[in-house]
Amino acid sequence: MTITLFKDERALARALALQIAAALEARPEAVLGLPTGRTPIRLYHELGTLHAHRQLDFSRATTFNLDEFLGIGPDHPGSYRAFMEQHLFSRVNLSADRINVLNGAAPDPERECERYETAIAAAGGIDLQLLGIGTNGHIGFNEPARELAGRTHRVTLTRSTRRSNAALFGGEADRVPREALSMGMATILHARHIILIATGKSKAKCIERMVHGPITTKMPASFLQVHANVELMLDDAAASAIRR
Ligand code: F6R
Repeated sequence: MTITLFKDERALARALALQIAAALEARPEAVLGLPTGRTPIRLYHELGTLHAHRQLDFSRATTFNLDEFLGIGPDHPGSYRAFMEQHLFSRVNLSADRINVLNGAAPDPERECERYETAIAAAGGIDLQLLGIGTNGHIGFNEPARELAGRTHRVTLTRSTRRSNAALFGGEADRVPREALSMGMATILHARHIILIATGKSKAKCIERMVHGPITTKMPASFLQVHANVELMLDDAAASAIRR
């Protein structure tokens, strides 16, 4: 894993936005995997700004979001689809038919997961997968467990993950859906290039375990150690527990 440090969240977001703009210039039809959460909000803002200044063109790119809550539709204000509309999709020139988000209201969730895997394969696989990390080490919604799923699947969210998403549901963890759909570990690890971003002191411990700890299903992000092309972009606070 290569690790790049930034003095703060803003510097990180700016650098990564420029890197994505360069990647799309080199390969306009790139397939991007995208996270939601607090961490990428500033990045999405920077991408919107670069696009507004005509320094970034998404017109031929394809995107696949990592995960979505189960039981709510794309129009629900708490859905990740709504989050993406607000923070990125409404601000850049992605073509609507190349935006892919799991449908949490699909009548047959298992079939929806299969459809998603087929769509990723049909797009040629993911070129650049962006990731955040949960304080418990989850990536996507692959929560710490005795076993992890390889492919896009239905998942039960932990209490801590529901608490971290409460803001999307009026601040009430109890209103956060109990289940979600998520890309699996293999879906993520098959991306050609992975960039994980983390900011703030609350991520320091899981970053240390991800980088230096054993590869274990109890820390799903530790599986990134087996991938040949992973970049970690961290602010100083998130990197504060890494031994150097
Ligand atoms: C969400 C996702 C999650 C988040 C993680 C960190 O699409 O993939 O794994 O990246 O929960 O969330 P924040 O950025 O809110 O700390």
